[in-house]
Amino acid sequence: MVDKLQETRKLDHIEMALLAQTNRQEVDWRFYYEPLFSPHPDVLTDLSVQFLGKKCKAPFWISSMTGGVGPARHINQNLARLCREFGLGMGLGSCRVLLDEKNNETYFNDFNLRPLLGADLPFYANLGIAQVEDLLIQGQHEKLNDLVARLDADGLIVHINPLQEWFQTEGDRLKQSPIKTLTHLCAAFKYKIIIKEVGQGMGPKSLKALLELPIAGIELGAFGGTNFTKLEQLRVRTDVMQPLSKVGHTAPEMVTMLNSLLKANPTFQEKQIIISGGIENSLDGYFLRSNLSFTSVIGQAKNFLNHAENYEELKKFTEDQISTLKIAQTYLVAKSIVDQEVSL
Ligand SMILES: Cc1cc2nc3c(=O)[nH]c(=O)nc-3n(C[C@H](O)[C@H](O)[C@H](O)COP(=O)(O)O)c2cc1C
Repeated sequence: MVDKLQETRKLDHIEMALLAQTNRQEVDWRFYYEPLFSPHPDVLTDLSVQFLGKKCKAPFWISSMTGGVGPARHINQNLARLCREFGLGMGLGSCRVLLDEKNNETYFNDFNLRPLLGADLPFYANLGIAQVEDLLIQGQHEKLNDLVARLDADGLIVHINPLQEWFQTEGDRLKQSPIKTLTHLCAAFKYKIIIKEVGQGMGPKSLKALLELPIAGIELGAFGGTNFTKLEQLRVRTDVMQPLSKVGHTAPEMVTMLNSLLKANPTFQEKQIIISGGIENSLDGYFLRSNLSFTSVIGQAKNFLNHAENYEELKKFTEDQISTLKIAQTYLVAKSIVDQEVSL
């Protein structure tokens, strides 16, 4: 006796088979698919990772985004609630507005997410290199320690964005090199430090200089996703596509660079990496993470932002990311990034 469900399924198969065609060019060449060796993953399948001294239940990271503006509080609170529910780490968007005590009352709660996140997940404040430079030059490094203490954060993410600042009409001009500021910061700051870009990535000389600093980690902020040089050009409505928005380094390229730097100096191993910038889905993250020889998590900004207004939507998006990663971990083996024709 054929039950109703079975009958519907068989009809679907006949009707949809013609629509369900693939062609050889579409194959995702990055993985070996090995279907023989595992049962399906389930709720007990472990994706956990020890990251920046804390345990995350899955290797995903909410990359730095917003705060200090109308809808930011609601978005941030949803993101923090998500981190708590799924055991993820989070970086705040620029906390610059909180450096001025006058703004505290109005904006502190946009950023005050530790009570929502709980004590046991990584949570980082964020400032631009220009603000850090200013404070250090003025001898006000205690303001940096104070910001992290007030937010009960684990440390500070500093974004290095000279191209963005250059194109921003109201942007800051750096008075000294970022590496000089960062060296000074490492000496004056009590908490963990992560350094990131904002959508251009960075080259091997910069990565090496960062790996040599006593910082906790690097977030790639690679080229290939949200790009703040381009965004600033859009803001000033220049219709000429500036060539500088196209320079930078993709996440696959940066993974290869980091691996080479580690080979030359195994002491770099202690640094931890947030792979971000143009990560479209869990498979991108799984491929890069499998290839990177450092402890890492997968960071996304735009994708989380896309769903952040509505908690149920955000939750569904994240569940999908997690189950895709579980399937990938169960049945896919990432090929070596160097052996493949990766579009670096
Ligand atoms: C709306 C928005 C605001 C952002 N603001 C910050 C910021 O304040 N500080 C920062 O370090 N990065 C900021 N970023 C950059 C992201 O952290 C990330 O590096 C970049 O968007 C690339 O990731 P994606 O391709 O997944 O969006 C922002 C990104 C978005 C989308």
